Amino acid sequence: MIEVQDLRKNFGERMALDGISFRVEKGEILGFLGPNGAGKTTTMRILTGFMPPTSGKAMVAGFDVMLRPREVKKRIGYLPEHPPLYKEMTVQSYLGFVARIKGVAGRQIRSSVGSALERCGLLEVAGRLIQNLSKGYQQRVGIAQAIVHSPEVMVLDEPTVGLDPRQILKIRNLIRSFRGEKTVILSTHIIPEVEKLCDRVAIINEGRIAALDDRARIGSTLEIVERVSVQFAPLAQPLKGRLELLEGVRSVIQEDGAPNRFLVEAQVGSEISRRIFERAMEERWPLAEVTPLRPTLEEVFLKLTGEERGVLS
Ligand SMILES: Nc1ncnc2c1ncn2[C@@H]1O[C@H](COP(=O)(O)OP(=O)(O)OP(=O)(O)O)[C@@H](O)[C@H]1O
Ligand SMILES: [Mg+2]
Repeated sequence: MIEVQDLRKNFGERMALDGISFRVEKGEILGFLGPNGAGKTTTMRILTGFMPPTSGKAMVAGFDVMLRPREVKKRIGYLPEHPPLYKEMTVQSYLGFVARIKGVAGRQIRSSVGSALERCGLLEVAGRLIQNLSKGYQQRVGIAQAIVHSPEVMVLDEPTVGLDPRQILKIRNLIRSFRGEKTVILSTHIIPEVEKLCDRVAIINEGRIAALDDRARIGSTLEIVERVSVQFAPLAQPLKGRLELLEGVRSVIQEDGAPNRFLVEAQVGSEISRRIFERAMEERWPLAEVTPLRPTLEEVFLKLTGEERGVLS
């Protein structure tokens, strides 16, 4: 549904995008995760036809963004970082206005606005001026203007920024309701947001894609730290001290409320699971389970975006 090939963008001397390529399949939610200035908004603005790339190609629903911008705009709904709300209008009249601009046929405007209002939980504020609404409601109006022409693709730039936790949940539920129906790209700095909402994650750093994979798999190829959870049989002697003596082990932490379960962190390449099994055989430990754990998305993010490198590797 979305295909981007080797997208580059320079602003004068500054290179904002340094060759970005990715695909998003129909019905999928892709999260863009990246630090400030990584190039998320720039990519989104190119995809939505608001800005040309310096080079490279972007296709949306089979249309080239540069060559067929009108076809693309019909099929894409965009929530920019700062939604262009006409605050002196009422919610309903603003959405009617946007629907008209986006080419919704006159006789369908009423029903299109009605369903966007309903979907975004705006029915009760339809007649109010946008400027009098809370930030959460204004953000919902921003999303409503992005879906009012029933686009197949949604591009949401930091959809939950600045909202209170209750509003965040509502916006996330709304976005989740698009899964399978619309193809969505959303950008965020919030790692749990990606974990809760996205099927796949692209970590963007300094104008490049540093990693792109399923949410669960991302980071499985990254060498950060070896981490395993070790469970001993109930009532076994605590063997924390023995685990700590294994080669490569950096720390052993007893898990909360589980006296026989330990989290073991070891140096990359120490093959800690195998070592634990071998030692358990030799010394007849009452071992119940050894489970290798994947790095967290936060660790992957920090590793790939170059922060706190010293802490993690
Ligand atoms: N119109 C512009 N003129 C000059 N430089 C720009 C322009 N827009 C973006 N940039 C630069 O391009 C780089 C990428 O910016 P972009 O806004 O895409 O980052 P971002 O990932 O969206 O960051 P944030 O998380 O802060 O929103 C930054 O270095 C930014 O300063
Ligand atoms: Mg941005």
